[in-house]
Amino acid sequence: MKILVTGAAGYIGSITSAELLAAGHQVVALDNLYQGHAAAVPPGATFVQADLADRAALANLFADHQDIDGIMHFASYTLVGESMQQPLRYMRDNLVNAANLLEYSVAAGVRRFILSSTANLFDDPVRMPIDEQERIVPGSPYGESKFFIERMLHWFERIYGLRYAALRYFNACGDTPERGEDHTPETHLIPVVLQVALGQRPAVTVFGDDYPTPDGTCVRDFVHVLDLAQAHLLAMEALERTGSRTYNLGNGNGFSVLQVIETCRRVTGHPIPHTISPRRAGDPATLIASSERIRRELGWQPRFTDLEAIVRSAWEWHRQHPHGYQE
Ligand SMILES: NC(=O)c1ccc[n+]([C@@H]2O[C@H](COP(=O)([O-])OP(=O)(O)OC[C@H]3O[C@@H](n4cnc5c(N)ncnc54)[C@H](O)[C@@H]3O)[C@@H](O)[C@H]2O)c1
Repeated sequence: MKILVTGAAGYIGSITSAELLAAGHQVVALDNLYQGHAAAVPPGATFVQADLADRAALANLFADHQDIDGIMHFASYTLVGESMQQPLRYMRDNLVNAANLLEYSVAAGVRRFILSSTANLFDDPVRMPIDEQERIVPGSPYGESKFFIERMLHWFERIYGLRYAALRYFNACGDTPERGEDHTPETHLIPVVLQVALGQRPAVTVFGDDYPTPDGTCVRDFVHVLDLAQAHLLAMEALERTGSRTYNLGNGNGFSVLQVIETCRRVTGHPIPHTISPRRAGDPATLIASSERIRRELGWQPRFTDLEAIVRSAWEWHRQHPHGYQE
């Protein structure tokens, strides 16, 4: 298939693009390089530097590539905290950009669409692990924007017959030898902890150690980026058969913030000091996914369920690329 990947110079988009190419698909890689890195786009993909807000650029892209079979939409503003400061970036720009993409997709007759959605839809879960029946309570304008895009997809299926999968990732993590996580600012736990091991931060701040969890720190579900990429490939291939689907994606194991830090100490051999700060507003104590539906329906089987293997893959890349994609 020929797949348009938006956000293909970013963390998850670049690694998924590489997996698509390895599986024999063609990739048109779109990114405005706001957060992404040209060097992350795999050789073999056709790179188009463009912003989804730029409708003329989208018109050109779809005119140049009239045979796109499916779209994987990773491009987005992605920061929960930033969305509490700048809600319009999320509730206007994320939505308008997705709407532009959808408009050109259906005009071009594209039949398949995969959305990067999020666990930030589940701010107040009733049951743990969290399955697709859980009530939606967006935790921020970021989460709200993803939920609204899911709703747009629902209506585009009803009206235009577009088949979609909304993949709600929990905490993406890990790297491959060739590509890794390089965000500015970095807000994700594992790369932040590894920056201490690299001497780039003095210590890790742990927000709250009085949660109702075994060690008092928040528990999260870390799902490896290669397992996420695999879920995208399976969902894209299955869409015609399964119809539109929503899947929660996690590895089903929860790890606490202190467990992550301890594992990073073991893997890096660095003492990695940490300090305890008060809780951050809006952090639920525990978020663990049930991914039974995608396991059952698509045979998805995460390969990285062990925290040490996840951290090792991340440390390998960060040690080789201490300044990320910057030489
Ligand atoms: N990383 C996670 O843990 C996580 C968890 C849940 C959901 N997600 C979602 O997965 C997707 C990918 O996340 P990521 O961590 O790889 O983010 P990322 O920032 O590394 O990648 C996003 C890419 O999109 C590009 N982009 C942003 N706005 C654009 C625009 N208007 N036009 C063109 N390109 C644009 C950026 O330059 C960047 O390269 C996002 O949609 C994010 O919301 C991520």
